[in-house]
Amino acid sequence: MKTPVVRIFDSTEDIADHFANILFRAVVSAGTWYKASVALSGGSTPRAIYSYLASLKGNLLEWNRIHLFWGDERCVVPESPESNYRMAKESLLDHINIPESNVFRIKGEEEPQYEAERYAETVSGLLPHENHIPKFDLVMLGLGEDGHTVSIFPDNILLFHSDRLFEATENPYNGQQRITATGKLINQAAMVVFIVTGRSKAGTAASLIEKRGDWKNYPASLVQPVNGELLWLLDEEAASELGK
Ligand code: 6PG
Repeated sequence: MKTPVVRIFDSTEDIADHFANILFRAVVSAGTWYKASVALSGGSTPRAIYSYLASLKGNLLEWNRIHLFWGDERCVVPESPESNYRMAKESLLDHINIPESNVFRIKGEEEPQYEAERYAETVSGLLPHENHIPKFDLVMLGLGEDGHTVSIFPDNILLFHSDRLFEATENPYNGQQRITATGKLINQAAMVVFIVTGRSKAGTAASLIEKRGDWKNYPASLVQPVNGELLWLLDEEAASELGK
């Protein structure tokens, strides 16, 4: 595994601008015959990132050359305020020129086990494979204060090691059913980017980056790309415990 890279920014907008350039490079490296495959993260942090991407004018990002997926989804209808797809649709998809055929949402309204299998087949059929595992160009991840990422929580950390690409699970704090990518898929990606903002996550981020304290109990600690790059994009607040 390559040494993780940590970048600290003054603002979420600066993070978003850097992420836009990462996206741009993913499109370029995918070449003209393939589309860059990107797995979006959910929760609230990405909303500002997606809004910034939507605000970019001109052709910096050729969305027709990007296939968008999700790393996880809540098992709700796409119109639900809880839906990761709805958040991305409101903040990004409705404002960019991306063909509908380039957007592959996890259908939270379907039976979870069935949808986890269907979505795994969709991803597997659209992405190139390396060592028989689909390889994303870019996986965007968030981080919970408890060290969860996608929808793999500390109480079920072993789910990360599932042999499946996606699993049905639940948020242990409210019982909400989820569908989540697993480590088999995440760690196969060419690049994995954690985007973490806010003071509340500073302790968890520092523990993970500096491999101290409870870091091994955090599912996010298992994100170790086999051949890809791991990048942390933090704002000053989320980085405030580093080196302490
Ligand atoms: C989700 C996410 C989850 C999220 C973290 C951080 O569906 O909620 O995939 O892993 O990234 O919980 O969420 P916030 O950005 O809201 O803090």
